[in-house]
Amino acid sequence: MEDVAFLIDERGNIQERAVKGGALYAALSAREDVRRMPSDSLLIPGVTDLHIHAPQWPQAGMALDEPLERWLGVYTFPLESRYDDVFFAEEVYSDLVRTLLENGTTTALYFATIHEESSLALARICLEQGQRGFVGLVAMDNAALCPPTYRHANAQQALDATRRFIAAVRALPGNEGGLAQPVITPRFIPACSDALLEGLGELAAETGVRVQTHASESDWEHRHVLERTGKTDTEALDGFGLLRDATVLAHAGFLNATDRARVRARNAALAHCPISNAFFAGAALPVRTVLDEHTRCGLGTDISGGYSPSIFENARQAVVTSRLLESGVDPDRSPGERGRPDSRITFQEAFWLATRGGAEALGTSAGQLLPGQAFDALEIRNGRRGLRLSPTDDAERCVQKIVCHVTAENIVRVWVNGRMVVDKAYN
Ligand code: GUN
Ligand code: FE
Repeated sequence: MEDVAFLIDERGNIQERAVKGGALYAALSAREDVRRMPSDSLLIPGVTDLHIHAPQWPQAGMALDEPLERWLGVYTFPLESRYDDVFFAEEVYSDLVRTLLENGTTTALYFATIHEESSLALARICLEQGQRGFVGLVAMDNAALCPPTYRHANAQQALDATRRFIAAVRALPGNEGGLAQPVITPRFIPACSDALLEGLGELAAETGVRVQTHASESDWEHRHVLERTGKTDTEALDGFGLLRDATVLAHAGFLNATDRARVRARNAALAHCPISNAFFAGAALPVRTVLDEHTRCGLGTDISGGYSPSIFENARQAVVTSRLLESGVDPDRSPGERGRPDSRITFQEAFWLATRGGAEALGTSAGQLLPGQAFDALEIRNGRRGLRLSPTDDAERCVQKIVCHVTAENIVRVWVNGRMVVDKAYN
């Protein structure tokens, strides 16, 4: 759309959207507090990172040649155990939240660590920097998988900590509007005892707090759960009361059709992490099918299983991965037996996953620049860093160019809930 005016209310929501030519547009343009955009600017919805490990930011881009189970034990658990140091946490988390905002991530669903104080610091930093932050204190107590230096001593300790964390996030000064939200976060079934998973399910029912976890991520993880419980991940999670409205399952590449029907029945959602899946999953999420059957889905960076903090980069990779799934990759096979037909998604669909898909997964009113939704928006500058929209480009072509070329360098301003949180317009 060209020449649009938005009226934002005091709560940060879009109250009106008016197009040039009408009376409302004229009235809004005449207001003293109007902010005008330069003619080479575009406004697009902010994006949601539906799966990111904040404490893993220092190792983004490292050790991606390791299998998941070794990567966790050798690199990730030792790094995460350092977040008993709140000063270290504050330094990393401040830099990460700033970086995400500059990349257009107006909402993020975070895994933090098992440490209450530094996880609360992450929620506080989201509030201070103005990001819509859903923050999970990680719960993990299984001694068979987690090292003694990095796990809860038992289920009760993890449950008590989670309960305290929920109350602490809700009580943060400046959080009256609920911009920062606690999330119940069993790391994944292999890291948790049955007692812990059951207790967290009860806590979710009692408090109504959202749930996030990893599900059916890799052959190893999927098999581990099958051997321990005799069930698939979604079946086991459902049994523990953890598959609920707005539960987010990260990865989920190995879900079968029955698993996905279960996810839909519960109004839960998938976080598609295409970059991470290339390294750790060893398989692609069939995102075409996921979209066609209306399973809720958004995009996640999975820092540091994925190396990039950009959801736009993951949107590009979601398209690329879907194309490779469709065509196959082995040139020595004949075209007919190389891939999986009808697997591709379009750039518009990737854009939808990044914006409205992620917001819908979390049950938030954001992701589209429509009246009634939060004003979470990015101003991007045409003509910079490869982004070259011309007046003859139709909407479809514009979206494709935007998805392909948006980086932190052509996002010049960012708003969350009506508040400007990044302003690089004159750099
Ligand atoms: N499964 C359990 N923990 C993790 C993690 O930190 N990253 C990923 N990608 N998978 C996991
Ligand atoms: Fe992950």
